[in-house]
Amino acid sequence: MDILEAMTQRRSVRTYTDRPIEGEVLLSLTAEIDACNAEGGLHIQLVLNEPEAFGTGIFKYGQFKGVRNYLCFVGPDDASLDDKVGYYGERIILRAQQLGLSSCWVALTFNKRRTRYELAPGEKLALVASIGYGEAPSKPRRSKSIADVSDAPADAPGWFAQGVAAALLAPTAINQQKFWFEYVASEGDGKPHVRATTKRGTQTHVDLGIAKYHFEIAAGRENFDWAE
Ligand SMILES: Cc1cc2nc3c(=O)[nH]c(=O)nc-3n(C[C@H](O)[C@H](O)[C@H](O)COP(=O)(O)O)c2cc1C
Repeated sequence: MDILEAMTQRRSVRTYTDRPIEGEVLLSLTAEIDACNAEGGLHIQLVLNEPEAFGTGIFKYGQFKGVRNYLCFVGPDDASLDDKVGYYGERIILRAQQLGLSSCWVALTFNKRRTRYELAPGEKLALVASIGYGEAPSKPRRSKSIADVSDAPADAPGWFAQGVAAALLAPTAINQQKFWFEYVASEGDGKPHVRATTKRGTQTHVDLGIAKYHFEIAAGRENFDWAE
């Protein structure tokens, strides 16, 4: 499955089977985590066979069932952490989707006290994501339109709209889709710029990082530079 297909097929999954993540799938997943940590200066951790973070027995969190594996998005506690974990985390989540694994980003509905992760000095846990072989088929959701979340002149190249369409496939907290993409034509011979912004709100910078990863994949990173 190519990565654009993975984006189209991905839906949050909150119910998992007991099937462990192992063998080639585990190797590929950990290789992607290691690459993201090296590139992004992050400390993302995969926790396997640990059911307590999502509650057991009657102490369940949200709609989650059977969560035994999760990703802990840890990194330096600075202003860019949320954007970065969104961007690199989605890269891991789409790789997982290609490997046949389902997932769900989780900012609120988990037990932070029982979650197992390591923190080096100056680091923080931003949020987690459940991961594993999914049981329940996920339902389609409502989405904003390209015009709702972007601005571009009529003669903007086609890759811009393709990027925005891919950003609209990205998961966002409470499906809020608060990101905004703007096409900025180049003044000289340089590449055009794309400005991606968001509003204040819960998890909006994690959402923005996720949406930017989707945009880059579909628009082609070679076609533009990000505007400050
Ligand atoms: C940053 C972030 C935080 C999220 N936190 C939670 C959460 O705490 N609990 C939960 O059940 N879902 C959570 N979600 C999942 C969203 O509700 C879900 O992605 C959104 O409704 C869109 O649905 P989809 O992922 O199936 O496309 C979160 C998603 C993101 C991106």
